[in-house]
Amino acid sequence: MTKIGEIYKCEICGNVVSVAQEGVGTLVCCNQNMKLLEKQNIDKEGKEKHVPVLSMEGNKVTVKVGSIEHPMEEEHHIVLIQILKDNKVIKEKRLYPGEKPEAIFLLENTEGIKAREFCNLHGLWIN
Ligand SMILES: [Fe+2]
Repeated sequence: MTKIGEIYKCEICGNVVSVAQEGVGTLVCCNQNMKLLEKQNIDKEGKEKHVPVLSMEGNKVTVKVGSIEHPMEEEHHIVLIQILKDNKVIKEKRLYPGEKPEAIFLLENTEGIKAREFCNLHGLWIN
């Protein structure tokens, strides 16, 4: 069973799937179950380049990855920045190599939000 907002990866081909609608089935790719990505421990090595940094100005939220700017090269880049509230994705931005590893979101209410990002090499990180 999947849950909205979960992110799964195929350990064979590298496909990554974000759940937009939950269901009772199991996600399968390359003939095996996809692996649910857990957030990285924020004390883990590499945290300076991965843990999202939020700054707020009224209802405008700027998310930068991370406190030392993450690379945005073809082989190693940030794929996705998401805003979560109560563990649900409420906003997201897809990023591409060559762009800045940051996103700006306009929210009605910034209370209790968190930011999550997915690095193509180092996985999922949340602030
Ligand atoms: Fe990375």
